[in-house]
Amino acid sequence: MSIPVRKFDAVIVGAGGAGLRAAIQLSEAGLKTAVLSKVFPTRSHTVAAQGGVSASLGNSEQDHWHWHMYDTVKGSDWLGDQDAIEFMCKKAPEVVVELEHFGMPFDRTDEGKIYQRPFGGHMSNFGEKPVRRACAAADRTGHAMLHALYQRNVRANTQFFVEWMALDLIRDEDGQVLGVIALEMETGEVVAFHAKSTIFATGGAGRIFYSSTNAFINTGDGLGMAARAGIQLEDMEFWQFHPTGVAGAGVLITEGVRGEGGILRNSAGERFMERYAPNAKDLASRDVVSRAMVTEINEGRGCGPNKDFVLLDITHLDPATIMKRLPGIREISIQFAGIDPIKAPIPVVPTCHYQMGGIPTNYKGQVVNEAGEHVTGFYAAGECACASVHGANRLGTNSLLDLLVFGKSSGDSVIEDMASMPKEHKPLPAGFADKTLARLSRLENQTNGTSVNDTRLAMQRTMQNHCGVFRFKDKLEEGVQKILEIEQQVAKTEIKDKSKVWNTARVEALELDNLIEVAKATMICANARKESRGAHVRDDAPDTPEMPNGRNDAEWHKHTMWSRDGNKLSYKPVNMKPLTVETVALKTRSY
Ligand code: FUM
Repeated sequence: MSIPVRKFDAVIVGAGGAGLRAAIQLSEAGLKTAVLSKVFPTRSHTVAAQGGVSASLGNSEQDHWHWHMYDTVKGSDWLGDQDAIEFMCKKAPEVVVELEHFGMPFDRTDEGKIYQRPFGGHMSNFGEKPVRRACAAADRTGHAMLHALYQRNVRANTQFFVEWMALDLIRDEDGQVLGVIALEMETGEVVAFHAKSTIFATGGAGRIFYSSTNAFINTGDGLGMAARAGIQLEDMEFWQFHPTGVAGAGVLITEGVRGEGGILRNSAGERFMERYAPNAKDLASRDVVSRAMVTEINEGRGCGPNKDFVLLDITHLDPATIMKRLPGIREISIQFAGIDPIKAPIPVVPTCHYQMGGIPTNYKGQVVNEAGEHVTGFYAAGECACASVHGANRLGTNSLLDLLVFGKSSGDSVIEDMASMPKEHKPLPAGFADKTLARLSRLENQTNGTSVNDTRLAMQRTMQNHCGVFRFKDKLEEGVQKILEIEQQVAKTEIKDKSKVWNTARVEALELDNLIEVAKATMICANARKESRGAHVRDDAPDTPEMPNGRNDAEWHKHTMWSRDGNKLSYKPVNMKPLTVETVALKTRSY
């Protein structure tokens, strides 16, 4: 069966920060660019980013990109690639100032400069003391950023396909990527977007977990499509649990609250972070703070009737500061916890927030294969990509920076690579849509199948219970078996209500196809990595004098690569060579 084909120079999947930033490069260069998004661009998940975007502008105190680089390598627990990290940190001031010129309404210092606040793990002078590096628009930085980028795209005449879901990559026998097959969610029409270049900016997949700060749209669509097309996924065992999700609701309370002076307390009112991170305290990196919180709860010092959360206290701050710098947080706290943080502390728990791994790319945003070669025509940026700048643990505010830097660099790479491509589109291979259409047809015709909701819930609970903040050998082994069983159920999901308008039921079933790929990759990689590093901490790799923090550099200082075909794992070395400066040498991480 044939489907309609539309031709573009470039197609971008995803209209969050990375997709919009890439689109600006392409549209302003005059390329015919299509951006596909499941939601209206300004509703993409970037909108939820709160506390800031990092850049060593030094607006309030001395700072330097090299210090930022050092912090990012250390934050990554030395699993980040140092060429990509140098590239990102060095580029940060440029992309942030550029964004300011696009109209981003940053908060201001008294001198009119961009306002900057401290954030976890950002330090001056190679780890000495916290530094103000997070450039903020109150506690709505992502929201402001998304609007600035969208408006710039409107000016550049980018063509948006809103409420379109990409279903599969089109790849020919040479492995070249030639676009995507997509579904118009309103009508159910399936169309091929035939493009010389395809950029994935599909965001994260936090919805594999039961409790997540992620939007419902964060279903790992790019990762699922890439995996089905034979692309490996990198470092999928590393997931960030943000320390401060509202207890019981999971909604994000920005780390910017601690940047403004907020303090975490246990049931005794103790500022417990002083014991876990004597130097950085509440502004240690996220993995360290989340583990400290869970330890407090597990050891009986949690708060509330069930002793299952800790408190984030800002009652000592001037209410005027809270109203000016953290108005959204006050609103969230009142709405979701019934607490006005001016008067009482907020109940918080660590909540799944960010995937450090993803589709492997180099620092130019080009997707790379097993041999490290560019997969012709394919690029990725933002949370779906693994450049890899975050390694085993991302620093707060480096996510917004990542999507600006790599959104822009992937756009630049497309422009550069297309200059040496033939003028005509390479023909689509015969039967390019067959597998996708078979998948859709299975969904339509499945009877006596499993419920999408029940299957997704089973997956989310399994991920939460077997692959959380602390990981246990037995639980991981059992988790792999459970996830593989759930995969069998996913293959039999049935759309119960085929009459639903907007194809909601179909979209949810198709999203589950992507989620399960991410869940499998995560559980299998986590089970395989027999050390503790960054956000991946196992009971059988404890902190000992011989192996501080349970990290085993001799055997595990390497990236995990997962292939969907047979769930095979391979490994590749961490790139320890920065572009221009000296290597940040391996050492034990403490804050
Ligand atoms: O805490 C926050 O505002 C989140 C920022 C981030 O994930 O980078």
